[in-house]
Amino acid sequence: MKFIELAKKRVSIRSYTKRVVSKKMLTDVLEAGRLAPTACNYQPFQFVVVQEKENLAALAEGYPAPWFAEAPVVIAICTQASKAWKRERHDDKNYVDVDGAIAADHMTLAAAELGLGTCWIGAFDPKIVRKALGVPRTVEPLILLTLGHPNEEGRLKTRKPLNELVRYEKW
Ligand SMILES: Cc1cc2nc3c(=O)[nH]c(=O)nc-3n(C[C@H](O)[C@H](O)[C@H](O)COP(=O)(O)O)c2cc1C
Repeated sequence: MKFIELAKKRVSIRSYTKRVVSKKMLTDVLEAGRLAPTACNYQPFQFVVVQEKENLAALAEGYPAPWFAEAPVVIAICTQASKAWKRERHDDKNYVDVDGAIAADHMTLAAAELGLGTCWIGAFDPKIVRKALGVPRTVEPLILLTLGHPNEEGRLKTRKPLNELVRYEKW
């Protein structure tokens, strides 16, 4: 599939069948995250794969949407700001969220290519999710990605037109 077709095909999926995600597919998705670029190649993240029923249920308390609890797999993209590149020479801006987001996006696109559905979740309760995942204090669960076989059709994307997003040469 051409990249632009894949980018059009990937939409957030908020309904999943009970079909199991094979180990091969899961590994392919994780591998796409591993290959993502990071600032200075520091790779300041780890991916926690949650598949056990009771662990998924504990996570779902942190994001109590009924569809979330249906997802057979949740991948928590967990970041460590202290291990990320900072723009130290100028303003100390920490790029950890950018690194984590690129890894998550690679995974969603790899999943779409395999016919799997994903949805980014940022609106979770961090206290509940931290506890459910058992992450240490220095680690932040940045994004939860649901993953499973879609139980809904793809749809057209609503996006601003390019002429509202792009400026040439100067702001
Ligand atoms: C950083 C981020 C956080 C998001 N958090 C949530 C969320 O908490 N719940 C949800 O249902 N969708 C969430 N989404 C999905 C967006 O709503 C969705 O990507 C957007 O509406 C565009 O639709 P599309 O993914 O189908 O193209 C999030 C997406 C991103 C990138």
